[in-house]
Amino acid sequence: MQIRLQTETVDACNLFESRDPDDSCNGNRSSDINANKFQRPIAQTTISEEEVNKFSKLAELWWDESGEFEALHTMNELRVPLIRDALVSVRQDASDSKIKATHPLEGNKILDVGSGGGILTEVNIVAFKPLARLGAFVIGVDASEENIKTAQAHIMHDQKLAQNIKYIQAAVEDLVPTEEESFDAVIASEVVEHVADASTFIRSCCQLVKPGGSIFITTLNKTLLSLALGVYGAETLLRLVPPGTHDWNKFISPTDLQFLLSKNKFSTRLLHGMMYNPLTKRWSWVNDTSINYAIHAVKSS
Ligand SMILES: C[S@@+](CC[C@H](N)C(=O)[O-])C[C@H]1O[C@@H](n2cnc3c(N)ncnc32)[C@H](O)[C@@H]1O
Repeated sequence: MQIRLQTETVDACNLFESRDPDDSCNGNRSSDINANKFQRPIAQTTISEEEVNKFSKLAELWWDESGEFEALHTMNELRVPLIRDALVSVRQDASDSKIKATHPLEGNKILDVGSGGGILTEVNIVAFKPLARLGAFVIGVDASEENIKTAQAHIMHDQKLAQNIKYIQAAVEDLVPTEEESFDAVIASEVVEHVADASTFIRSCCQLVKPGGSIFITTLNKTLLSLALGVYGAETLLRLVPPGTHDWNKFISPTDLQFLLSKNKFSTRLLHGMMYNPLTKRWSWVNDTSINYAIHAVKSS
């Protein structure tokens, strides 16, 4: 991906203007990606060029379920039900009488920040439903043009699902001027540990959430165990992810993350540890948050 040093250009399609998969914000129209452009001073970007380039180089591999991104594919078995159940519970708490059993997230607008190739928003496992099939309208935003192209190409295999998803190349902060407080939920799954400035990144994510809306974050804790197992074990010993995928210095503790969230008017509803078993290649919820963890927090109304 070519990231310009002085300014960054991003797609500024009106996010909710059309759900037509053939409109210029979606699908195989890469020439339209930069049709309308914001200009962002480099000093304000949350994009780490080095980090984004790592993922751009792997852009063709996102949908290989037993390849480099296998652990993210299987993580869907935890994170999709977590997001679905939490959003339904927030709606129930607000006495929302319009929740449909078949499409419990219908009417929800969700932003998937750092969506990569789209495997959280568009999974195709029959055992459970991906976010868009639960009825939500989901925007996937990623800093990498290559990743967005992969996601856009993949969604074209399912025209029905494509009506509920849009993919946009941008950094999260680029959406704030036009989309502030417009999402029921913002998700940043396995992204915080790859950004240039976690504080600005979290603030931008929080600004995009409606009052009473939710933020979901999964990331890695900054402990000796996460250095040993999350970095050395996963990258060098077990080769679960390519060497150099993670920079331990960018990891963040649940306490520090909760501090950033509370500064932005969010209170934590749930904090869970997540454990990957390399033998079964499956994730499970655990009490221990010393390596991977998930947070759900809600914005004050
Ligand atoms: C480990 S991948 C996670 C992909 C996806 N969330 C998932 O879990 O399947 C991290 C992604 O974040 C993107 N990214 C990094 N910094 C970003 C930023 N500041 N704004 C938007 N996307 C970013 C990268 O390009 C990469 O695709």
